[in-house]
Amino acid sequence: MGYLELIVGALTVALTTWIWSFLVSFAWRPYLKAKRLREQGVGGPKGSFWSGCADEINHMKAACGDMVFDINSHDYLNKIFPHYIKWSSQYGGTFIYSIGEKTRLFISDPELIKEVLSNKFGFYMKLDPGAGITALLGKGLVLTDGEQWTRHKRVVNPAFTMERIKTMTRTMADCAKSMLDQWQDKKEVEVGMYLQELTADVISHTAFGSSYSAGKEVFLAQKELIMIVLASFLKLEFPIKKYLPTENNKHRWKLEKKLRGTLMSIIENRLASKEKGYGNDLLGLMMEACNTGNQGETNLSIDEIIDECKTFYFAGHETTSHLLTWTMFLLSTHQDWQERLREEVLSECGKQIPDPDKITKFKLMTMVIFEVLRLYSPVSVIARTARKDIKLGNLMIPKGMDIIIPIAIIHHSKELWGPDANEFNPLRFENGVSKAAKHPNAMMAFSIGPRACVGQNFALTEAKTVLCMILQRFSFTISPDYKHMPADRITLQPQKGLPIVLTPLEA
Ligand code: HEM
Repeated sequence: MGYLELIVGALTVALTTWIWSFLVSFAWRPYLKAKRLREQGVGGPKGSFWSGCADEINHMKAACGDMVFDINSHDYLNKIFPHYIKWSSQYGGTFIYSIGEKTRLFISDPELIKEVLSNKFGFYMKLDPGAGITALLGKGLVLTDGEQWTRHKRVVNPAFTMERIKTMTRTMADCAKSMLDQWQDKKEVEVGMYLQELTADVISHTAFGSSYSAGKEVFLAQKELIMIVLASFLKLEFPIKKYLPTENNKHRWKLEKKLRGTLMSIIENRLASKEKGYGNDLLGLMMEACNTGNQGETNLSIDEIIDECKTFYFAGHETTSHLLTWTMFLLSTHQDWQERLREEVLSECGKQIPDPDKITKFKLMTMVIFEVLRLYSPVSVIARTARKDIKLGNLMIPKGMDIIIPIAIIHHSKELWGPDANEFNPLRFENGVSKAAKHPNAMMAFSIGPRACVGQNFALTEAKTVLCMILQRFSFTISPDYKHMPADRITLQPQKGLPIVLTPLEA
């Protein structure tokens, strides 16, 4: 046999093996997974061979993309989740569908969700996030699993105790003051944009302390990365494509490099001045924890610290800014509640900068914030993958099945929240979060279980501080130019911003 025949023979074997493994991964395994669920009585749309239901979802989302709602309507799920709403009405609260080779199980029963999210053995892992999300968030606490997550959590936890957060309220207030000073002479402002810059400013100061100006560069790079991530959502591509030098990939690599370079130089500066201590900001606390912990238990490499910085920078401002934006929206359309909150703020703090201990006493404000988080949860869906074959409720879930937890749908369920589920009624939280609905875990804005949001207290303290200062200085109404179009762009936000008409109050 000549060389040519040998090469052709080898190539034929390689190609046949590749086609075989492709068919097994893309067709046979997904088919088996779906079959196992269907045999247990779980229905769902079939989808096509290559894309599954991706095309149908894209069509439905495109058709609803420009829906505008009445400002008093909070029933916008048809716009952000038209596919889930359609399939829930056809197949019930538990169904399967597929995206490419991935089979997904949608669950909306809070008991099943609790079982998934409370699992302490790591049987439900985070989904493979894809190159874009990894570039944006880094392999930090949000995206890691197993031993890596435990190690990161040990290092990050001390930076988020309530005592630590209280020490940050002065910084939060200073950042808010400089934003409000800019509002002073304006009649109308697009508050969404201001609040995004404010929360980025707060995390820059609290995370990087004196190096806060570098935070602006992180903010801008992450903003561009979001656009790349959004453009790639539900686009099915060969896995190899993420390594090819396409225009998109080159742009993403450039931003990743910039982001890494910025964070690296902040960290190197800290390392250079370590005799003086690493600093009292979040980064300093993390570096301190790495340095003083038992080797292996709490040590993170420089790369891991960079990833963690990306994580809490993004998670720390993107979500809180939208919480504040939707709060401004709901208080503008519910003047009675705006007035009640102002009375509470003035009676607790007068016109003084809010003191962290007083903030915890804002009962009405806490109720309003939870109601905003319920109706306009910044994170509207989370997901997990089954690490092994596992029993969930009465179902046997095959290994590798993705599980979709639609927070926004649970937050709007009339079965859980009563007939007024789509209305703004902060009083439902009068007796605490766990008593507000028929199920104690129906409120999932910060998720539940061991992977619940580590920044919850940080976010609530920041939101209350900023809101308190806005109410002290301005009354506000919605601008007639506002178009009510909630949009899910990784986080839930007003599609065309939120213009607000301001009236300064007497000093
Ligand atoms: C209103 C504001 C916020 C909301 C609604 C929110 C929501 C969430 C949710 C739903 C999760 C769970 C994700 C999942 O299970 O897949 C999460 C996790 C996380 N959040 Fe937040 N978050 C907020 C603010 C913050 C802030 C201010 C920070 C940091 C400064 C932060 C850092 C994190 C981190 C590090 C995780 C991962 C925790 C882990 O897996 O152990 N978040 N957040």
